[in-house]
Amino acid sequence: MKAGAFIRKFTAKDGREVTLRAPRWSDLDDMLEFINSLVEEGADITADTKMTREAEVDWLGLYLSRLEKDQVVGIVTEVDGRFVGQVEVSPKSGRSRHVGVLGISLGADYRDIGIGTELMREAEAQARRLGIKLMTLELFASNERALHIYEKLGYREVGRIPRHNLKDGRYIDNIIMAKDIE
Ligand SMILES: CC(C)(COP(=O)(O)OP(=O)(O)OC[C@H]1O[C@@H](n2cnc3c(N)ncnc32)[C@H](O)[C@@H]1OP(=O)(O)O)[C@@H](O)C(=O)NCCC(=O)NCCS
Repeated sequence: MKAGAFIRKFTAKDGREVTLRAPRWSDLDDMLEFINSLVEEGADITADTKMTREAEVDWLGLYLSRLEKDQVVGIVTEVDGRFVGQVEVSPKSGRSRHVGVLGISLGADYRDIGIGTELMREAEAQARRLGIKLMTLELFASNERALHIYEKLGYREVGRIPRHNLKDGRYIDNIIMAKDIE
């Protein structure tokens, strides 16, 4: 997909208009602020250290290069012209090249209004376009909201890694989920 390409619009449960599009270079500072806001919030994600702008430049450069070559699915969400979240599906390689690993996150002020559900549906549609047949993801066992939407969309728990995450002095399991999208 071309960087910045428009995908579609929809109306969130609170009436706000949401735009889905591919990421682009000018998202750099918004993306940096976004990931660092999740770290600061202590969200149930692996990252626990703020990113530097330098590291974000390297990451986004590689991401956009893979996006343009259809080697990854990347979708960002905009509300009122602001970057408010994203989803990514990275295909595995070799004999597992039909498997896509999904990661999704939305800013704290934009949750529970249906955006995550729509983003997941769009990510699956784009993943199919890339030939992905099996989606997988991992989440903290404590992330009840994420577990709810994944189960709602047909993902099933296929495994659990005990004590995979250490957060605020407590160990939290990782749940592994999968969904056939063929
Ligand atoms: C997880 C996340 C992607 C979900 O997206 P979202 O836009 O908030 O989700 P939606 O609004 O589409 O759906 C939320 C659903 O969870 C439900 N929900 C909210 N809090 C819940 C809780 N504590 N327990 C169970 N269900 C909950 C809502 O009622 C809603 O249910 P419904 O779809 O049946 O009506 C988003 O909240 C997020 O980015 N969170 C922070 C980062 C994160 O956790 N990323 C995922 C890492 S694996």
